[in-house]
Amino acid sequence: MMANETLKIIKQRRSIRSFTEEQIKEEELQAVLEAGLYAPSAGNQQAWHFTVIQSKELLDRLNFAAKEAAKQLDNEHVRKMANNEKFNIFYGAPTLVLVSGLEQAMLIEADCAAATQNLLLAAESIGLGACWINFVLFAFHSPDGSAFRKELEIPEGYKPYSSAALGYKKAAAGRAPDRKPNAVTYIR
Ligand SMILES: Cc1cc2nc3c(=O)[nH]c(=O)nc-3n(C[C@H](O)[C@H](O)[C@H](O)COP(=O)(O)O)c2cc1C
Repeated sequence: MMANETLKIIKQRRSIRSFTEEQIKEEELQAVLEAGLYAPSAGNQQAWHFTVIQSKELLDRLNFAAKEAAKQLDNEHVRKMANNEKFNIFYGAPTLVLVSGLEQAMLIEADCAAATQNLLLAAESIGLGACWINFVLFAFHSPDGSAFRKELEIPEGYKPYSSAALGYKKAAAGRAPDRKPNAVTYIR
């Protein structure tokens, strides 16, 4: 099997769900953001917008609003998480990068997903912990949704599609779950 640093980071990355309170360094944040900006995008539209949230007060409000909205959902698993008072949707991470996209762009969900994956891989490559967080999107579907969009200065026509929580890992990540078999077909 071939091996290099990039392949190692891709296999090593795990969702981190326990963070120290210490804020990440500015140069680390900038390295992660730059990786997001260098993601591929359909037609090279680059129709994404990144919002860095490092205010604990705002993260707490987003956590609260997302959980309140999730309590109303049909999905029992999500409702159970929302009703757990101890559950923090950001796992205590001190930084959240919210990835928004221009709704009218060609394939904006795919663009934002590619950017989010770049954020996670860059974070892993410099020793940060990271977790993809879509739970926060419930906050934008709540009655406070448009107020949050305004407060977060999300540009007109854009909406949040995903986010990445970032911070220093509190504990080492576990082993990656086994890969499901038969996920590849070769036609040669
Ligand atoms: C589209 C998407 C949404 C996700 N949303 C959340 C989330 O809201 N909260 C969370 O803890 N993990 C979330 N995850 C992380 C997945 O649970 C995680 O990637 C998966 O369990 C595999 O674990 P690994 O990342 O350690 O390989 C999300 C992942 C993806 C791709």
